[in-house]
Parts: sequence; structure tokens; C-alpha cells
Amino acid sequence: MKIAETIGEVRTQVAAWKRAGLTVGLVPTMGYLHEGHMSLVEEAARRCDRVVASVFVNPTQFGPGEDLATYPRDFARDRALLEDHGCHLVFHPSVEEMYPAGAATFVEVCSEMPKQLCGKTRPIHFRGVCTVVAKLFNIVTPDKAFFGWKDAQQLLILRRMVRDLGYGVELVGCPIVREPDGLAKSSRNTYLTPQERQAARVLSQAVFLGQKLVAEGERDGDRLVQAMKACLLAQPLARIDYVQAVDSETLEPVHTLRGTVLVALAVYLGKTRLIDNFIAEGL
Ligand code: PAJ
Repeated sequence: MKIAETIGEVRTQVAAWKRAGLTVGLVPTMGYLHEGHMSLVEEAARRCDRVVASVFVNPTQFGPGEDLATYPRDFARDRALLEDHGCHLVFHPSVEEMYPAGAATFVEVCSEMPKQLCGKTRPIHFRGVCTVVAKLFNIVTPDKAFFGWKDAQQLLILRRMVRDLGYGVELVGCPIVREPDGLAKSSRNTYLTPQERQAARVLSQAVFLGQKLVAEGERDGDRLVQAMKACLLAQPLARIDYVQAVDSETLEPVHTLRGTVLVALAVYLGKTRLIDNFIAEGL
């Protein structure tokens, strides 16, 4: 496995692979990797001849007062994990490499999509995500790129960006990987105190309840959301940011569940904000 710190090194390697007729899969990450990230790397290795993973804590997707400075980092460990899971090239750029001095160009989906759900508390987040992912697509020129459904809003916004800008990259969505007690794996779980970690089970409990209710025939979005909120409210350490059932295309709230619906939630445990969701299809 090679490590590249510059855009030039990535371009040279990818060009050589493409000349040899090999397909390239990209797995963008912010590092501090866990089994959720590894499932994307494994899927990329199954579907592509060569796998590129990026490890870059992207400053433009963090708002003022968010956890950019404290976001956990351990590149030595990330590197070993990536090598073990079949990654061929790790792109680990500096902030200056990704954002040259005076960088002033952003990529933004200018619909309501980035203003919904997490966008309400993180107004510049998805602009930062789209900008860095667009740059990664330009640098790596992958055939396929792999993203987790854990960040459903991110994946749906990136699908829109790819369509709108005509990127020739296929986005592959991968299922949410969970801890044994149901908590979706996240680099931010390391922020939780032992009590908060215990209490965090309630997010997946609310998701599983929602899935069960939909499977049993619930089609009233408001009633579904109320039931999931009641589940979350039973946990005194949890503070609800949002629970919403939204249209999977526009991310606007729906009152009747029909077609494909994203049911998403965000909950604070102390200072840590965690997210979870499920997609209900074929309704
Ligand atoms: P990060 O939070 O490191 O996540 C990288 C990828 O791993 C994302 O596609 C995310 O959805 C996926 N992922 C995280 N936890 C997962 C889980 N439990 N199960 C399945 N997939 C999981 O998302 C980002 O970084 C950044 O916004 C990025 C796209 C890299 C742009 O900076």
C-alpha cells in the first residue's frame, strides 16, 4: 500500500492504473477509522481493481464552535487498518495541499436539501462536504466512490451533486455498521462518557422501533415521528435535535409515508451530537 501526500503523486499512480485498464474505487474518510469505514473499503475492493482511501479532516465542513480542533486523529492506526483491508493507496494530504492559500471556490447544492435535517444546526456543513468530495473526484477520477448510509443526507446530497455536475462517478451506498448494542459506529462515539455511551443505545432503539412500525403498516409520518420521539424521551441523558420523516429526493418533511422515505434523527448526549436513520422503500 502506498501513501501519497500530494495531488501529483495520486494523479501519477491513478494514471498508471488506468493505462493498465484497471478500475479505481475511492473511499473518502476523515480518519480515526472503524468497522464502518472498513466495510466501505472492503466493498470497494470487491467492486474495483484498485482502492484509494483518503484520510483528511476537512476544515470547510466544520462550523465555528464545532469539533475541528478536537476531532480524533491516529494516522498510524488508520494506515495499518487500511492496509489490512485491501486498500492500495492512501491519500493523506495537508490542509495546504487541499486548500491552496487563497482558495475561494466552493461547490454547493443550492436547493433546500442542505438546509434540511442536519443543515438546520450545521448551515455550512454540506457545502464543505461537496467541495472536498468534488476536489477528491477531480484528483482521483474514480470509477466508483463508496459512502455509508450512516450519513444519509450526505449521500443523497452528493448524488445530486454528481448528477448536476455530470461527474462520471458511480456512488455506492453501503449499509450502516453497528456496535453489538445497536449504536451506529462513529468516530465521535469516542467523545461519550461511559454513562452517555450506555444511554446512546436509545438512538438505534428509536430507529428499530420506527422500522418495526413501518413494517407493521404505519403510513402516518407524524405518528411515526411521535412514537420515535417518545422512545428517545424515555432516556433522560438524550436531548433530541430532530426526528423527521422526509422525502428521499428533496429531504422535505412528509406527512404520509409513500414511495421512498428517509427517517432520520439527531440526538445530543452531553455535548456530543449523534445521528442515525433508516430508509423505508416501496411504500
Ligand atoms: P467520515 O465521518 O470519516 O465517514 C467516512 C465514510 O464512512 C462516510 O461515507 C460515512 O457515511 C461512512 N461511515 C461512517 N460510519 C459508518 C457506519 N457506522 N456504517 C457505515 N458507514 C459509515 O463522512 C465523512 O467522513 C466526510 O464528510 C467525508 C465524506 C470524508 C468528506 O470530508
